[in-house]
Amino acid sequence: MKTPLLREFLQNPMTGPEIEARSFAIIDSESPARAGFPEDQWEIVRRLIHTTGDETLAPLVRLSSDAISSGIDALKKGAPIYADSNMIRSGLSVARLREVFPGYDREKILCHVADNDVAELAVEKGVPRSLLAIRKARESLHGGIVVFGNAPVALLELNRMIVEEGIRPALVIAMPVGFVHVVESKEELMSLGIPFIAVTGRRGGSPLAVAALHAICTRASAPLPQSEQRQATLAPPPSPEENSISEKDRDAFYHVLHTRRDVRAEFTGAPIPDEKLRRILEAAHAAPSVGFMQPWDFIIIRDREIRARLLEGFQAVREREALKFEGEKREAYLRLKLQGILECSLCILVTFDPSRHGPVVLGTSAQSDMDRFSCVCAIQNLWLAARAENIGLGWVSLVDPSLLRSEIGIPEPIEPIALLCLGPVEKFQPRPDLERAGWLSRLPLDQVIHEGRW
Ligand SMILES: Cc1cc2nc3c(=O)[nH]c(=O)nc-3n(C[C@H](O)[C@H](O)[C@H](O)COP(=O)(O)O)c2cc1C
Repeated sequence: MKTPLLREFLQNPMTGPEIEARSFAIIDSESPARAGFPEDQWEIVRRLIHTTGDETLAPLVRLSSDAISSGIDALKKGAPIYADSNMIRSGLSVARLREVFPGYDREKILCHVADNDVAELAVEKGVPRSLLAIRKARESLHGGIVVFGNAPVALLELNRMIVEEGIRPALVIAMPVGFVHVVESKEELMSLGIPFIAVTGRRGGSPLAVAALHAICTRASAPLPQSEQRQATLAPPPSPEENSISEKDRDAFYHVLHTRRDVRAEFTGAPIPDEKLRRILEAAHAAPSVGFMQPWDFIIIRDREIRARLLEGFQAVREREALKFEGEKREAYLRLKLQGILECSLCILVTFDPSRHGPVVLGTSAQSDMDRFSCVCAIQNLWLAARAENIGLGWVSLVDPSLLRSEIGIPEPIEPIALLCLGPVEKFQPRPDLERAGWLSRLPLDQVIHEGRW
């Protein structure tokens, strides 16, 4: 009896899918708390463990919160897929991709690493082929799915394109393996605000990268869970009369509000995804305004030369303001960082148009500044929405309005109101910068509440 186990197996045979299900059950039973991952992320992590037979992988896996949804959306649209190795290109199952988007074929999976022009140029320049290969794919990376199982230098180049050229893949699977630049390339990517699935540290490889994308395919082509189906079919959005806020939403709102910060020093410079910026501006535009006049405009300023000139203007005003403080207070003032004009990803200038609906505005006869104040409501909405999107915002007041007017070309009678700096951040500080620097603290609430009279 040379193969006794096989004989035993054939007495109680299992199909391929049954073996897979049993494998998953074993992985689940050996990781009862799913290694701390939520259900949808665990499906991806479990498949990576399944591919390697190695449960020690779980603590190394990182997924951005938008990785799965963004990956699924991209696959459903038939987004291009760029692979850093031909092994990934061959390993990806076109059948699985087609279950999500029927238009996929092998040609949609790009890999230029073995192209002759790439190889020749790599020799000439003395750089790895993978670096030039991903450059060649540049046009397909924005909105595409980029899969790394081998080439950390190509990942570094993608990171550069994200930061410097505004390229925004829908999903990056970051699993290059090895010893040189491997750890840093993944760490850098994870700080850029792009949807990612990564295996941190030196581990990785093409089979893992392929498994990760297959796991996204499985999730994309799976029917909605019953509970969500029911919600999708039976629960239309509540009508305005009955849409009371749940406790969970209330708590989420207060969480956003209390963790909002004025950000100056923590910007990473990574781009803001277009859809986030759009939601943030929609929130600003949903602000209340006197007479519903909506007197605001939002000017997005990306140009670094203009921003550099605004920074010069800021420095002049700051020096002037420093003279208003004496001795140690002046030194403390000069130590404060009061802007992030160049470090942020972009600036937004909020302007005020008093003439938007003619000379008479409902509601402004007693307090004529109500129109201007309305712009500030929009700014606060924008600030909170940015926080909800994990985008930092800093308000820079120390720039002369006349400089803003000339640099941005603001015509009369429109007024510049607020120069805002926005972008992804390394972290949100737990307390206001001015409090941490010992400048001032938050007043006790009861000190500012008055009953009836002043
Ligand atoms: C109208 C306004 C103008 C501000 N201007 C500046 C500024 O020029 N530079 C700066 O660093 N912070 C500025 N801030 C931020 C405040 O310093 C900050 O809101 C305050 O210290 C509380 O910190 P927090 O926003 O992190 O809670 C401004 C805030 C407001 C509301």
